[in-house]
Amino acid sequence: PTPKRKSSPPNWFQPIAPSSEDLLRVPDQYSAQVILSWDDPIGLPDHATGPQRFGFNNDFIAYFPINALEGGKNSQEGLLWVNHEYTNPLFVSGYFAPASGAAPKKTVEQIRAEKRSVGGSVVHVKWDGTAWKHVPSSQYNRRITALYPEIMLTGAASSKIPFGIGTLGNCSGGRTPWMTALSCEENYPDFNDIEKGFRWKDVASEAIDERQYGWVVEIDPFGELPPQKHSSLGRFKHENAAVTVSAGGKLVVYMGDDEMDQFFYKYVSHDSYNPAASRADQRKLLSHGTLYVADLMNGRWLALDYDRNKAKFDKAGLKSQADVLIHTRQAAAALKATPLDRCEDCEVHPLDGSIYVAMTNNAKHGNLYGQIVRFVEANDDAASESFQYEIFLAGGPKTGLASPDNLAFRKNGDLIVVCDMSSDKLNRGAYRPFGNNGLFVVPTRGDSAGDAFQFASGPNEAELTGPWFTEDESTLFLSVQHPGEETTDLSTPTSHWPHGGTQLPRPSIVAIRGPFGG
Ligand code: FEO
Ligand code: CA
Ligand code: CA
Ligand code: CA
Repeated sequence: PTPKRKSSPPNWFQPIAPSSEDLLRVPDQYSAQVILSWDDPIGLPDHATGPQRFGFNNDFIAYFPINALEGGKNSQEGLLWVNHEYTNPLFVSGYFAPASGAAPKKTVEQIRAEKRSVGGSVVHVKWDGTAWKHVPSSQYNRRITALYPEIMLTGAASSKIPFGIGTLGNCSGGRTPWMTALSCEENYPDFNDIEKGFRWKDVASEAIDERQYGWVVEIDPFGELPPQKHSSLGRFKHENAAVTVSAGGKLVVYMGDDEMDQFFYKYVSHDSYNPAASRADQRKLLSHGTLYVADLMNGRWLALDYDRNKAKFDKAGLKSQADVLIHTRQAAAALKATPLDRCEDCEVHPLDGSIYVAMTNNAKHGNLYGQIVRFVEANDDAASESFQYEIFLAGGPKTGLASPDNLAFRKNGDLIVVCDMSSDKLNRGAYRPFGNNGLFVVPTRGDSAGDAFQFASGPNEAELTGPWFTEDESTLFLSVQHPGEETTDLSTPTSHWPHGGTQLPRPSIVAIRGPFGG
């Protein structure tokens, strides 16, 4: 038996208790301020389509200093790339299927409204000395939706699938060294689905071609480079993309597949990162490289490379590198990769380069609370083909944290963990002790390493997602996703956040700041 460590909380905030209030609660002396909410106009009206509006269910956020392309680290003005993962038809298109009886079909207008509500937003934001404000007159403000024109694919799969119409299912993501966002297409099969999903195939002409989704999409918030879908990073339910540069200069991207018993991946570029190259040349690192999948039994990264594993892929019916990339899960299974407990976000430790992966839970294995697994590459080389791993943190009543999802690091190594106990399970049964979904600080160094201290608690049925700091860590941007998600009648919503009273709930992005301007 391991004696319980004596643990002291971080000295920069007073931890809060679990809460079931319909509030975004933060510690004393900290403030949480709403910047933009679903349906807010974000830019100048277009004469054809009217104002572009902030989408639904904001998830991943990446901050880009306004002077980032000159190497600047402005922490008071910048652009946010915000993912809009999925939609809630009741709120967005007014569609509701009763629990029993035949469900009505969706109309074209309803589907188009839902398509406009997903994808992502670029929004210009500025600290005015008192609050973060959206800058509505900025030319940078724009939407990319499921109705956006063709986004070209790069890499081997582009020979079979040249483009995807817009983007959807955008869950988490990452930021490249050349200041673009990587936006990950996750639950793309839901959008056509009639039984449990959004039933876009109710109208044949509105159905999506699923092969166009499940990719990592690169977006330039500054608008210099066109969006691209990078097929070399594989196709699955992409959760996120954590980017680093290896000791030898390769660009490395770690990626989870969020489904029970699916896998953990990494991509290693063929060429080396050259900070002096143009942005257009730097992005080519994402189209030419090797995709690997993790084998935890043997501590090996297995190459999803047709030439290296031809016999195994041929046996699985995969006849080319394009096939391997389009059917990444089948290719990974053919190499006997290790099935995992739903890989959500992963992040690279800023001090030692190890990789922390949130595995949120796995109903097939009775794993209710999930765990955070830490991968250590051989020789601390992100491009290595072997690794070790440990369980860094097990969720549950002892840690006070259940179903870890998005992660972010402070520069000192403190890990920020937000949780996603699904909204129909909150405050019930085995999840009752945890209250609403929260945000936790987990030190990775010192006496308290691996202990979770609660910093925030979200409103009813919400998940806190997308944590991202300004460069100086004076502001934490955070998404409040799906408040009041279980609402079945708009006259009686199950949350009224953020406006209170009898208002409808609205997914929103917030800025959290502490005492002493930091
Ligand atoms: Fe969209 Fe796996 O979270
Ligand atoms: Ca997630
Ligand atoms: Ca993250
Ligand atoms: Ca989740």
